[in-house]
Amino acid sequence: MQIFFATSNRGKISEAKEKLGPTGHEISPLIIDGMPPKFIEPQSEHLEEVAFAKLSQARQMVLGSEMEDCAILVEDSGIFIESLSGFPGVFSSFVEDKIGLSGILSILSEEENRSAEYRATCFLETKEGIFKSKGICSGEISRAISGELGFGYDPIFIPVEGDGRTFGQMSSEEKSQLSHRGMALKGLSEMLIRPSK
Ligand code: IMP
Repeated sequence: MQIFFATSNRGKISEAKEKLGPTGHEISPLIIDGMPPKFIEPQSEHLEEVAFAKLSQARQMVLGSEMEDCAILVEDSGIFIESLSGFPGVFSSFVEDKIGLSGILSILSEEENRSAEYRATCFLETKEGIFKSKGICSGEISRAISGELGFGYDPIFIPVEGDGRTFGQMSSEEKSQLSHRGMALKGLSEMLIRPSK
């Protein structure tokens, strides 16, 4: 199945290609008038609400185009830091742009509790209906920026189930075995191969 992923984040697109490609699905970025879609995100602290709003807006955007009947994938994700009561959460992208990873490390410089988790919620709409899948990856915020791979907070996030390296030090194959998005996309791919009743 051809799936259009409505995101401007190239890191997310390559992770989705890696996870869903081997299951026979072709992932392409959703491009409208030469641009990835720009969403108006609702004022919500919940990834699910934000992701669903993206899906509704993407559907509106493809009305009347050759992509109108195609499958559309959306995702919303963020990093939730325990000692900051879940901040930046749904604001992760904004906070990354404003203060960067060094800003986060300096906010946490005196903090012993480094626990954090990445969370992702995906919606995939196909002719069969709307599928939802979530993933969580527990970890810790490192003391220093390490690695240049991945994107976003990866160089300061050490997954609990890893070997002590940050996601920024892991190949995308290694990351997707452990990551929130890998888990959410795997869930979707399993729903797609399940025979419908
Ligand atoms: P969204 O595009 O509104 O869902 O923003 C997601 C933001 O959360 C990204 O821009 C990153 O700041 C952060 N984020 C989510 N998933 C990841 C990941 O896998 N690695 C690094 N940062 C991530």
